[in-house]
Amino acid sequence: MTEIINVIDQGASPAAQPANSYYERHIFFCLNERKSGEACCAQFNAQAAFDRCKIQIKAAGLSGPGKVRVNKAGCLDRCAAGPVAVVYPEAVWYSFVDLEDIDEIVESHLKNGKVVERLLTPETSGR
Ligand code: FES
Repeated sequence: MTEIINVIDQGASPAAQPANSYYERHIFFCLNERKSGEACCAQFNAQAAFDRCKIQIKAAGLSGPGKVRVNKAGCLDRCAAGPVAVVYPEAVWYSFVDLEDIDEIVESHLKNGKVVERLLTPETSGR
C-alpha cells in the first residue's frame, strides 16, 4: 500500500495499466443492505455517498472512457469499517463518514491522484 501511495503522491498515473483498461480509475461503493439488522453500509448513508460521488465526478468532467467510473457494489466484506469504497487500480480502501469526505476523495484522489490518507480503511478491518 505504501508503495502505491508513494507512486500516486509523485503525481504519476496509476502504475502499469494494461492498454485496454478503458477507465483510468474505478470507485466501487458498497451499498449492501441487510434486512436482518446486522451492520451494513446501507445503514450509514452509502447510497447518498454514491450519489454524491456520481454527481461530483460528472460535474468535474471526469466521467467516461479513459477517466473515472463510479459503480455500485454489494458487500465488499469489510463491513466493520463501513461504509466503505475502494478505488482501483490502486486498490485503495476508504471508510467515509459524510458527504464532505466524498468530495475530498473526488478532488484529491479521483481528480488529482493523491490518496486521502485520513480516510484510509484500517488494514485489518474485515467483516
Ligand atoms: S456491508 Fe458494506 S462491506 Fe459488507
